[in-house]
Amino acid sequence: MVLGALCDGTKKSTDILPVDLSILKFNPSISSPSFVDKSDLTIPPSPTKEYVSRAADELRTTNTPVAFPTETVYGLGADATRSDAVQNIFAAKRRPADNPLIVHVHSLEQLASILNPEFIIPQPPPQSDAVHVNGNVHEKPDPIPAIYKSLITRFWPGPLTIILPSPPKSLLAPEVTAGLSTFGARMPAHPVALALLKASNVPLAAPSANASTKPSPTTASHVYHDLQGRISTIVDGGSCGVGLESTVVDGLSDPPCILRPGGVGLQEIRQCEGWENAVIGYQDTAGEKTAKPKAPGMKYKHYSPSASVVLFEDGRGPPALHEIKDRAHPNDKIGIIRTAKWPMALGLAASSQDDNISVNGDTVNGLGADDSRAVSLNLSKAIFQDSKIGQQITLWDVALSRRVDDIAKGLFAALRRLDSLGVSAIFVEGINDQSGGTAAAIMNRLRKAAEVKD
Ligand code: TXA
Ligand code: MG
Repeated sequence: MVLGALCDGTKKSTDILPVDLSILKFNPSISSPSFVDKSDLTIPPSPTKEYVSRAADELRTTNTPVAFPTETVYGLGADATRSDAVQNIFAAKRRPADNPLIVHVHSLEQLASILNPEFIIPQPPPQSDAVHVNGNVHEKPDPIPAIYKSLITRFWPGPLTIILPSPPKSLLAPEVTAGLSTFGARMPAHPVALALLKASNVPLAAPSANASTKPSPTTASHVYHDLQGRISTIVDGGSCGVGLESTVVDGLSDPPCILRPGGVGLQEIRQCEGWENAVIGYQDTAGEKTAKPKAPGMKYKHYSPSASVVLFEDGRGPPALHEIKDRAHPNDKIGIIRTAKWPMALGLAASSQDDNISVNGDTVNGLGADDSRAVSLNLSKAIFQDSKIGQQITLWDVALSRRVDDIAKGLFAALRRLDSLGVSAIFVEGINDQSGGTAAAIMNRLRKAAEVKD
């Protein structure tokens, strides 16, 4: 089931609030090992302070979700404890209601209060971490399963989501878990996400802030493109550093399992205590073949631009001229995303033996950026012409990078940029994903979006 329009049915004007990350001060700092336990936030008087408190108020007091940056992708957040607010996430994204949401927290203390609700409202407030039962002092048991300790120490705050058991009287709105007995949680590393979590002091349920099935947004303008009129506020913190969603892991199963590849690689996870034998529990095809994937979101068509995506697995040379021509109508536009080896405009000018065919290339500086806070893309244009049959095809060519981290950072922006140029198909140069790191996450997203050529 896909939920319909927003509850109040009105079309909203959508504001983009630009914030200055450099003035968000956390004590201890986000990179400090003790940050996960507890931290304080200070923001000097500034438009940024106003915007953060405006967005946090909206999260606390209204049912309209707010979009904000995380280090992975932009999220669309709402108070995870209020059904009316969470339902509007599904409505704004047109997301199927059986796909659960990730709960974002600012501290382990906040996560513990979700896992063990009876500890949250002691009267009077306890002086220490101890609880009093029949006059005796008992150490407060840590409700976070031990299997996750090594991962939290190494990767939080950061792009890793852990699956946890929902407690019997969960504070979370039932829509968050979509009927499962577990919920996913992560502590993001982005200062804006953390600032909103701290300022609102509510756990935030937040899927990626794209319209369902589209590539995840890595800039505020991507969110605006998909959700304008459906939400009131996008907090703009510039482009996201990782560019792909978090890795989702399930330590409640034996052996522990990776449900979605993402910002943290399998090899790094296997280095952590208790995770040495972690197995892969996802498939890379569009629409999972197993009856019931463990991460429900992995069964849906995903990450897809409007254009059809043709993925060439690592090692395949660039598409030949006839493969491009077969795809294209006269006066068509075709997109190309290159990574390691394909030549610019696929080397078509050099390779063509036919006198009737010409290819004129042009590097179009500046066209890669769609706003001042955009992901910068290396975009070129080439016109291919076959004078014999009167066919002209415009090739829009994005050269991402050889570096895996740069590919991750630019991939969704490239798919979206080519879509905005009106291309009918996008040919993508795949990369080697044997290492299982970020490369595996990139190829997972591409295989889900694409028709694959081995
Ligand atoms: O990086 C990210 O994870 C971003 C940012 C905003 O934090 N969020 C994100 O959320 O990608 P979303 O909703 O697009 O993807 C969440 C994934 C889905 O595949 C969902 O099925 C899975 O996590 N998931 C959530 N709760 C789960 C649960 N209890 N059991 C298994 N999978 C779960
Ligand atoms: Mg998503």
